Amino acid sequence: MPGKLIFRQLFDAASSTYTYLLGCPSTRQAVIIDTVFEQHLRDRALIEELELKLVAALDTHCHADHVTGAWLMQQATACRIGISKRYGDAMHGADLLLDHGDRIAFGRRHLEVRATPGHTDGCISYLSDDHHMVFTGDCLLIRGAGRCDFQQGHAGTLYRSITQQLFSLPDDCAIFPGHDYAGRTMSSVGEERAHNPRIGGQADERDFVGFMDNLNLPHPKQLAMALPANLRSGQPEDGKVPQLADWGPVRQTYAGLIEIDPEWVSEHLDEVLVLDVRQPEEMDERLGRIKGARSLPLSELKPRLAEIPQDQPVITVCHAGMRSGQATVILRQGGFTRVANMRGGMLIWQQLGLPVERRAGSA
Ligand SMILES: [Fe+2]
Repeated sequence: MPGKLIFRQLFDAASSTYTYLLGCPSTRQAVIIDTVFEQHLRDRALIEELELKLVAALDTHCHADHVTGAWLMQQATACRIGISKRYGDAMHGADLLLDHGDRIAFGRRHLEVRATPGHTDGCISYLSDDHHMVFTGDCLLIRGAGRCDFQQGHAGTLYRSITQQLFSLPDDCAIFPGHDYAGRTMSSVGEERAHNPRIGGQADERDFVGFMDNLNLPHPKQLAMALPANLRSGQPEDGKVPQLADWGPVRQTYAGLIEIDPEWVSEHLDEVLVLDVRQPEEMDERLGRIKGARSLPLSELKPRLAEIPQDQPVITVCHAGMRSGQATVILRQGGFTRVANMRGGMLIWQQLGLPVERRAGSA
């Protein structure tokens, strides 16, 4: 097997959803499974920072509890959108219609599709090429199983999916579910076969169906909103990508900071306030300062927030872009909404050959 799989597990706390990013180390091609609409910027930042090329945004099924981020991911990366073809004409926007036995290649690695209906008709599990990992969506959960009481759910079908498609995998095959509500991150086939309270041990189909038909769960809160959106692969009704800012091409990093490129700043100096948060003496050192930059050291920023005008977006700057990143946090906490950190600070500014000012006589 060529190289160790790149693997990240991500969590959306609002819906307790797990998202998985898988990448081929030799080609950097990647797929993402069950990305969440509201987490799009986080997921995209991680893909960019790991220098991955996304080839597909895959869903394990048409979700009822959150909206997929697949369409947003396609807009951002031109990846394909994959989901089961069993949803038929109701599903729009997907261009990779999958069924049992299909393979999804990303570089020199691939996933195998296993049809695992029961929670919905179109539930599929994605199995890694080495059979070391399976992404089960809402079919098999850790010490649980997906509910079967809406969206064509059927407990008998789910029983057969789990016992025939998942429990036939090697005991040490790791199970990564679509959700967990108790902070558990993974399990294994052998472990669930032994200890799953719904379908493990000696449970037969009648035991499982009896259990599942009496869960008495409340109707999912997000269903009325999530289902129509997911049938559009997560495309908003107005067809527009939500903008992070209306004043400039800002980007969110995986660390959660909002940043902007120095090139853009250099071309828009008269439209923004450049706030240099280095110590004043640093501004006269080798790297110099940006023309018109206002000096306010990070250590004094919080008590002096009122001095900063809010009529223009604020671009924070420092030596390498670290202290200025923290400055954006302080500014946002102080009520500033149009704020971005200049990526890479004065070091990158200088590397790009952008103009600086120096006080006469300074080094
Ligand atoms: Fe679900």
